[in-house]
Amino acid sequence: MTFDRETKIAPSILSADFADFGREIQAIEAQGADWVHIDVMDGHFVPNLTFGPPAVKAFRPHVKTFMDVHLMIAPVDPYIEAYAEAGADMITAHVEAGPHPHRTLQAIRATGKKAGIALNPGTPLEAVEYLLDLCDMVLVMTVNPGFGGQKFIHSQVDKIARLRGMIGDRPIHIQVDGGVDPRTAPLVAKAGADVLVAGSAVFKGGSVDAPQVYGENMSALREAILAQS
Ligand code: DX5
Ligand code: ZN
Repeated sequence: MTFDRETKIAPSILSADFADFGREIQAIEAQGADWVHIDVMDGHFVPNLTFGPPAVKAFRPHVKTFMDVHLMIAPVDPYIEAYAEAGADMITAHVEAGPHPHRTLQAIRATGKKAGIALNPGTPLEAVEYLLDLCDMVLVMTVNPGFGGQKFIHSQVDKIARLRGMIGDRPIHIQVDGGVDPRTAPLVAKAGADVLVAGSAVFKGGSVDAPQVYGENMSALREAILAQS
């Protein structure tokens, strides 16, 4: 993957039909998804449970674009290799997941995968300042992680803009996750985010039998961003 700052849409399969992940992934990719975002939750770091490494491994053959694995788990280090072996292209860990996020990023890089670091809404930007040179992506959470369909937290737009300044010309993506829809996408794109995760806003109203709705939903996000620029 060559680095660019073009806007990328990464649908979160947390909003897909849990009995039909293979076809759901194929449907969103056919409709223009740039990345596929997988939300891994452990019922401890966040109050919800989702996908272990075998599930992620089962998704892998269906993902033709880029498999973006967001680990909302603590501890995280003992599971990095398993998610790398499951076929993740990017592994993102939370800066709040333990006392040694620098070591965590080194461990992700050691697997040969791209490395991301995520910040919860209450975490100051400075928490990642000395980690940037080990990162391919910083994920700014715009909801408290754990569930899809929550309300966008507007205070994070300023965090994204400050992060954009901190990154400068380094090849580091800025990802936004939580409450991204046609109203909020222009705000985060303008602030400097280039990878937009969206669950409800992509999957709402569609299905594997009506996949064009996914395409329309993604177009609505892209058009809202273009309309402001
Ligand atoms: C939240 C997850 C998100 C979530 C986004 O814990 O990390 O990826 O699925 O869902 P929406 O877009 O519905 O807010
Ligand atoms: Zn996520």
